[in-house]
Amino acid sequence: MKVIILAGGNGTRLWPLSRTNYPKQFLKLKDMNKSIFQMTLDRSLKLTALNDIYIITNEKYKFLVMGQIEELGYEASKNNILIEPLGKNTLPAIYYGVKEIQREKDEVVVVFPSDHLIKDEASFTDTIFKGIGLTNNYLVTFGVKPNKPHTGYGYIKPGQVIGEGSKVDEFKEKPEYLSAQLYLEKGYLWNSGMFMFRTDVFAEEIKKYSPIIYNLFNNNDLKDFFEAVPSISIDFGIMEKSQRIAVIPMDVKWSDLGSFDSFYEEFPKDKNGNINFGKDNLVESKNNLIYTDNDKVVALIGVNDLIVIDEKDALLICKKDNAQKVKKVVEKLKSSG
Ligand code: GDD
Ligand code: MG
Repeated sequence: MKVIILAGGNGTRLWPLSRTNYPKQFLKLKDMNKSIFQMTLDRSLKLTALNDIYIITNEKYKFLVMGQIEELGYEASKNNILIEPLGKNTLPAIYYGVKEIQREKDEVVVVFPSDHLIKDEASFTDTIFKGIGLTNNYLVTFGVKPNKPHTGYGYIKPGQVIGEGSKVDEFKEKPEYLSAQLYLEKGYLWNSGMFMFRTDVFAEEIKKYSPIIYNLFNNNDLKDFFEAVPSISIDFGIMEKSQRIAVIPMDVKWSDLGSFDSFYEEFPKDKNGNINFGKDNLVESKNNLIYTDNDKVVALIGVNDLIVIDEKDALLICKKDNAQKVKKVVEKLKSSG
């Protein structure tokens, strides 16, 4: 089995913690001794050998990836670090990895994002292995039981039971809030963002549902492909369209550290629901997330449900329920140069 780790995202919803030059997957937050990319690599090594793990990342992050692999005591092989000249979201990135693996022969591949925290590692490994039995006919997803109508995830409707999982009747990527609420009531699962498939089955589905990407890759060199290819995720480009999706339920403590609302859920809170990485000085304030990298005292008085992120050159103050909009700030910063 081969593993593809996607490590090329910008992590814009965690600005200013996550920066274009140093995105969230490589960060070590105050209490962590490994980055979430390094944790993903460790988890992958429970499934397969280092030589069978392909890391797909952007030109900008090449040295970060190599440095973080070596920091874990492994040798970073250039053959297994695939560099995209330009980031065009997950579908072009995954197809690049698939083509590289297919050079030798068709294989079962599992794709991992590098922005997840997973607590229960043994049961995680078991769950991933359960997917293998379905890969002859299906692209396999791993479904997590949702606990709220989060609009930042994909939703999966499990259908007829097959093997260790179910056929998927519907896959809906990042729905509107009201649809997400309905899906929650109807027993849909969250798409964990991890996928497992045989490379030949994946190639058939990309040819059928994203022929532009298929043709561009197969008729161009890598640089021209990435320049020309539209930016699209695997979720919109294949998972929403294919009739050959299956889901394995994944019952582990999982979270995508994608935005500050999930970040808030993840860390321990005091009796007032505050998380404060700085020196404590909160008065009549509840359910806030405060992060500061230095020893600054951050004082809040009479405010609730805020995100306050204090970095050397940037300060973010945002209402928690607007956490998904943080990427708009980054877009604005980019457009103003
Ligand atoms: N190499 C590469 N190139 N990696 C990328 C690129 C790219 O252009 N864009 C994103 N990634 C990486 C990110 O670093 C992350 O590890 C992973 O691909 C997924 O991208 P996200 O941008 O974090 O996706 P998402 O969280 O919004 O949505 C996906 O994951 C959710 C669960 O975490 C979807 O699959 C959802 O359906 C799913 O619920
Ligand atoms: Mg994510």
